[in-house]
Amino acid sequence: MKKMKKFYITTPLYYVNASPHVGHAYTSIIADCMARFKRFSGKEVFFLTGTDEHGEKIKKAAESAAMAEGDFIDSKVEIFKQLWKTLGVSYDFFIRTTWDEHKTVAREAISKLKEKGDIYKAGYKAFYCVPCEAFWTETQIKETGGCPDCRRSVEIIEEENYFFKLSSYQEWLIEYLSRNPEFIRPQTRYNEVLSFLSNNKLEDLCISRPKKRVSWGIDFPGDAEYVVYVWFDALLNYISACGYAHDEKKFNSLWPADIHFMAKDILRHHAVFWPIMLKALGIELPKVIFAHGWWNFEGEKMSKSRGNVVNPFDIVNTLGGYLSGQKDIASDALRYFLLREIPLGLDGNFSWKALTNRINSDLANDLGNLVFRVLNMAEKYFEGKVLPLSKDIPASFKKPIDKLCKEYELLMGEADFSVSLEKIFAFIGVMNKFIEDTKPWVLWKEKKIDEIKNFLYALLEGIRIASIYLWPVMPSTAESIFRQLGLSRESLILSVCDWGKQKEFTIKKDFPLFPRIEVK
Ligand code: MSP
Repeated sequence: MKKMKKFYITTPLYYVNASPHVGHAYTSIIADCMARFKRFSGKEVFFLTGTDEHGEKIKKAAESAAMAEGDFIDSKVEIFKQLWKTLGVSYDFFIRTTWDEHKTVAREAISKLKEKGDIYKAGYKAFYCVPCEAFWTETQIKETGGCPDCRRSVEIIEEENYFFKLSSYQEWLIEYLSRNPEFIRPQTRYNEVLSFLSNNKLEDLCISRPKKRVSWGIDFPGDAEYVVYVWFDALLNYISACGYAHDEKKFNSLWPADIHFMAKDILRHHAVFWPIMLKALGIELPKVIFAHGWWNFEGEKMSKSRGNVVNPFDIVNTLGGYLSGQKDIASDALRYFLLREIPLGLDGNFSWKALTNRINSDLANDLGNLVFRVLNMAEKYFEGKVLPLSKDIPASFKKPIDKLCKEYELLMGEADFSVSLEKIFAFIGVMNKFIEDTKPWVLWKEKKIDEIKNFLYALLEGIRIASIYLWPVMPSTAESIFRQLGLSRESLILSVCDWGKQKEFTIKKDFPLFPRIEVK
């Protein structure tokens, strides 16, 4: 029997010149949420992340830290790995572009393109931004008076370099995009790329840097004077990580990638350079390039140079302080906020106020309160053991649960996490209202014990189902709820989320999940 191909998900390879901030965390959380969703839907997943470790700005960062490049990079990689652990980012493989196998693959790919005649050497004059490692034309820098991306001053550079014939593939790419409107998502980004390609002539891509200027990179095949342009090297990670040219069996079982996640800042690299590189190498294209929006901080682009980066470790530590020291639950709160606050294609504005408002309203008032009240009642009325007489679904639950069941997989599969969460929380709202409407304290006084049993069963079953749906976004929270419901971790999977699958509950109450955060 043919083995099913693993679902292959990637994040960009983050630069190691600085420590990660909440923007980097956002992409990794998105990818993680998709990976978890696929896994608990029964698919095998290969989730790739890693670090981009070449280029002048990394060398310069090492110099300013008075460290050798290797030591500096290793120390940064540890911070990224620590962050992914803290945030529950469950990657399967961490690639570093200084990995020997990757360097060999990059060199082989370039040699192949050279042999094919897709790479040539020529003279070159351009404006260069060192921190962004980007070349700009005169028209491009005229508008800002400096680098269009970071606004810093640029250097004029005149030298010989190697070029990759992007221009030869422009027509092919336009044609490919026209036939595959799902290739770039969301739709607005697809339109943007297609319109860019249709209205501009693609210039060939300069893919080398002379060593006298940039020494920290992969040696350019066949010319010891040059290193490979960091972007050309980095993009190839998506195939080197899964075995291209060094582990054919692995490569065949993983490639093509199912989804490459990134923000819109590097969409063109992924939606123009990358497909052309693959086409030229004779490799199948990935299925989807997904460019999400950008998080700003108080209206400004978050960047190290502006000194306004939001450190995700600080967020988790601070929130953990409010949440009885439960750092995994604090990390879930951040994951929830980032995924719920804005739909995936749009930009967001990060602020502590927005974060704490979200936590207090959705997680403390709605979810935390619901779980706390229901578990309390189960303990108070039945010493934690809830055995119902009837497992009928309450009338008010039916519609929202049916809707959720029907839409959840589609929304999650489309990476529409915000709407999916909105619907789960609408159901949580229905459960809270059910308590208010039923008034169990009155039933208790009237000694309607069977009614309370059925009532509590319905709520526990509802909480169980909501927790399953929440797991990809808030894994630790869902697992904690499951423990408190007396259920095993193994039963936190999508296939058992139908109503009535759990016949009874034996409660093991723990910490209140989300106490309110009172910010002075
Ligand atoms: N090294 C390249 C990528 C090479 S991929 C083959 C790079 N690295 S980066 O460290 O600058 O990371 C850019 C990515 O980090 C963005 O595309 C996005 O995924 C994430 N983000 C960084 N800052 C962000 C925000 N402020 N908001 C949202 N995402 C952000 O580019």
